[in-house]
Amino acid sequence: MKTPIILGIESSCDDTSAAIIQGKKILSNVVSTQKIHQNYGGVVPELASRAHLQNIVPVIHQAIQKANINKKAIDAISFTRGPGLLGSLLVGTSFAKSLSMSLNIPLIEVNHMQGHIFAHFIEDELNNNISFPFICLTVSGGHTQIVKVSNYFEMEVLGETLDDAAGEAFDKIGKLIGLEYPAGPMIDKLSKEGNPNKFRFPLPKLDGIKFSFSGIKTSVLYFLQKELAKNPDFIKLNQNDICASVQKTIIAALIDKLKLTIQKTGIKNVAIAGGVSANLELRKEIKKLESELACKTFIPKFEYTTDNAAMIAVVGSIKYEHNQFTDLKTIATARYKI
Ligand code: KG4
Ligand code: ZN
Repeated sequence: MKTPIILGIESSCDDTSAAIIQGKKILSNVVSTQKIHQNYGGVVPELASRAHLQNIVPVIHQAIQKANINKKAIDAISFTRGPGLLGSLLVGTSFAKSLSMSLNIPLIEVNHMQGHIFAHFIEDELNNNISFPFICLTVSGGHTQIVKVSNYFEMEVLGETLDDAAGEAFDKIGKLIGLEYPAGPMIDKLSKEGNPNKFRFPLPKLDGIKFSFSGIKTSVLYFLQKELAKNPDFIKLNQNDICASVQKTIIAALIDKLKLTIQKTGIKNVAIAGGVSANLELRKEIKKLESELACKTFIPKFEYTTDNAAMIAVVGSIKYEHNQFTDLKTIATARYKI
C-alpha cells in the first residue's frame, strides 16, 4: 500500500503556510510571512485575513510543486481549526473544505498548539526519537503552557500563563525599545552582544506550575521611563544589555517552572515547541537539563518552531493512520483547548 500523502494548511495568525507530507517525511513546507503588520507593531486581524486570502492559493500551489507531486496524489487535507484569529482561521478552514470537496478526499482538523508539539514527530535527519510520556514547554506569541503528552491523543495542560505569553512579552518589550514586530528574533540576536547581568528585573512570584509575564513588561516600562528621564539616549546606548537582561529574565521564569514540573511529575523526557523555542539562549538552557537533572531533551529544527504547515501536516498524517477524520460541518474556532 502507498504511504498516504497529506496536504497541511496553516493560517491561524500571520503566516500562510502549506506543506506536503508522506508518512512522517516532509516533502515541502512553504511559509509566507505577512510583512504588513510590521507597520503597526503587532498583528492587525483584519489585514491578516485579507493577506491569507491573497496568499493561500499561491502558497498551496508552490507546496504541491516543490513536493513534485500531482494534486490528485493527495490522500487527505489537514488544516488548523483553532486556536487563533477567527478571520485568519476561516480562510484556511474554508479553503481546506472546498479543496476536500473538489478532490473528493477526507478532511482532518488540527489544534494549532497540538501541531507545535507534534513537530517533534516529523521524521528528518535530526530525528532523535522522542518517546512517551514527555512534557513539552509550548511557548509562542499566543500561548505559554506546559503540556504532559502521554500518547498521540492524550495531552494534559499542567500549567499555563495567567496573562501574557512569553512571545508576547518579547514582542511588547521589544516595542518599548523601538524594535519591529515580532521583536523576539531581534532580541535574541542583540542579546548575543549584551551583558545579561547588567540590569535586573524581578521574576514573577507564583506557586505551582503557572506563568506570568505582564509584571516583567511593566517593570521594564517603569525602568526605561526612569532612565530616559535622566538620559534620553539611554535605550540607544544600552540596547544590547537591555535585550540580554530581559531575555535572561523571561528564560529564567520558563526554566524555573519547567524544573518544578520535572520534579513534580518525575518525567524526564523534556521538549520545547512554538516560536520562542527558536531562541538560542532558551535552547542552551534546556540542554543544560540533561546534565543537571538527567533529562533527555528534544529541541525542534528551527523551521518547525515558528508557525508552519509541516507541523499541521504531521498531525494530519498521524490522525489519518488512526482514522480520525472530520466532516464538512466543522467550523473554525478561535478558542480551542488541547
Ligand atoms: O509559534 P509562533 O510563530 O506563533 C504563534 O503561534 O504565536 O510564535 C511567534 C512568537 C512571536 O512572539 C515571536 O517574537 C517569538 O515567537 N519568537 C521568538 C524567537 N523567534 C520567534 N522569541 C524569542 N526568540 C526568538 N528567536
Ligand atoms: Zn504558533
